[in-house]
Amino acid sequence: MRALTWQGKHDVRVETVPDPEILNPRDVIIRITSTAICGSDLHLYDHTIPGMKDGDILGHEFMGEVVETGSSDHKLKVGERVVVPFVIACGGCFFCKKQQFAACDNSNPAETADASEIAYGYPMAAAFGYSHLTGGYAGGQAEYARVPFADVGPIVVPDGIDDDKVLFLSDILPTGWMAAVNCDIEPGDTVAVWGCGPVGLFAVQSALLLGAHRVIAIDHHPRRLQLARNLGAEIIDFEQVQVREALAEMTGGIGPDACIDAVGMESHGFTPDNLLDHVKVKTFMATDRVHALRQVILATRKGGRVSIPGVYGGVADKFPIGALMEKGLTIKSGQTHVQKFMPQLLQMILDDKLDTTFLISHRLDLEDAALGYKNFKEKQNEYTKVVLKPGSGIQTRH
Ligand SMILES: NC(=O)c1ccc[n+]([C@@H]2O[C@H](COP(=O)([O-])OP(=O)(O)OC[C@H]3O[C@@H](n4cnc5c(N)ncnc54)[C@H](O)[C@@H]3O)[C@@H](O)[C@H]2O)c1
Ligand SMILES: [Zn+2]
Ligand SMILES: [Zn+2]
Repeated sequence: MRALTWQGKHDVRVETVPDPEILNPRDVIIRITSTAICGSDLHLYDHTIPGMKDGDILGHEFMGEVVETGSSDHKLKVGERVVVPFVIACGGCFFCKKQQFAACDNSNPAETADASEIAYGYPMAAAFGYSHLTGGYAGGQAEYARVPFADVGPIVVPDGIDDDKVLFLSDILPTGWMAAVNCDIEPGDTVAVWGCGPVGLFAVQSALLLGAHRVIAIDHHPRRLQLARNLGAEIIDFEQVQVREALAEMTGGIGPDACIDAVGMESHGFTPDNLLDHVKVKTFMATDRVHALRQVILATRKGGRVSIPGVYGGVADKFPIGALMEKGLTIKSGQTHVQKFMPQLLQMILDDKLDTTFLISHRLDLEDAALGYKNFKEKQNEYTKVVLKPGSGIQTRH
């Protein structure tokens, strides 16, 4: 089959690789009809997340049709259309039973779980196409994928609904939703969201649906800011104004009640702290550029809530622990417990209460995936979300 493989920093290629096979009774194989490139994939593309090997198949946002099941009495049936959550979870462990699927203790094989245990104290759950720290599972930017624990993860979608309407249930929609849920929004609240990428935009949408009075979105790409405005947010361009001053002014000097960091470890901008982070990361004295998170903690009102869906991998320099403690902030974070939120969000899509298709800027054939990565990284203003359609024959001008 054809699949997008990682070959090193800024080097991804579509190659012919062996087809996936059923390895245990709970597996299914799906033929992928749509798969997307995520901001999290850029951390692999930029090689800021370790644990990649040449030839690894990328991709954790995908959906398709079941073509083979591991046992005849499998919960899923051949021919069903499913969206696959990026988190691989067993459904039966201590964490899965608490619906903390992104903490599953069984999906990451011991030899790779050990590496995350050294880094984080405990082994991480597995994810598709996301390095050998999360199990080394082949991803879904491919024609086919093996889906383990398929009786727990994938959600069946009705025939007739367009892929583009439901694909984002695999990650970014539940991620934006959980980011807003983690803000414990109360009537009258103002929520500020750093980053108007896919996760930030869905966090804006979710915060409004969950009852935020005002949402303020922060970025520097005009088109992404415009999408946030279209959703009902007020906007701040961090290249035009001082973000903290602007937020204080917009909230009567108090600060937002809740703040969401949908930027993560590769913060943009030319502030002194961010430039210093660049130097420290280059010289191996730090791993993550945490400018946005510093700003989030300093801007949130006293007693407020901080939600961090943005991915961080290692250790941070100059983390404002004093402001966090003295202001009495609450922090919630984590990889998304996708399986927990999928049914509710699918129902909202089917009821026309939620539309996510506004986000898609480009649809490409899988064969053009490398171009999709390059542009999603380098032309963020225009490329808000890239969806790959294997075998579609969509022609792209190079
Ligand atoms: N927790 C999870 O389970 C989960 C799931 C998916 C993605 N993520 C993470 O969420 C983050 C966002 O993902 P995405 O797909 O939206 O990525 P993206 O790269 O498309 O978007 C990030 C946005 O942040 C903006 N930005 C950069 N620096 C900023 C700053 N200083 N202030 C304000 N905005 C700034 C960028 O201009 C960009 O628009 C990534 O770190 C990704 O890895 C987490
Ligand atoms: Zn993703
Ligand atoms: Zn589990």
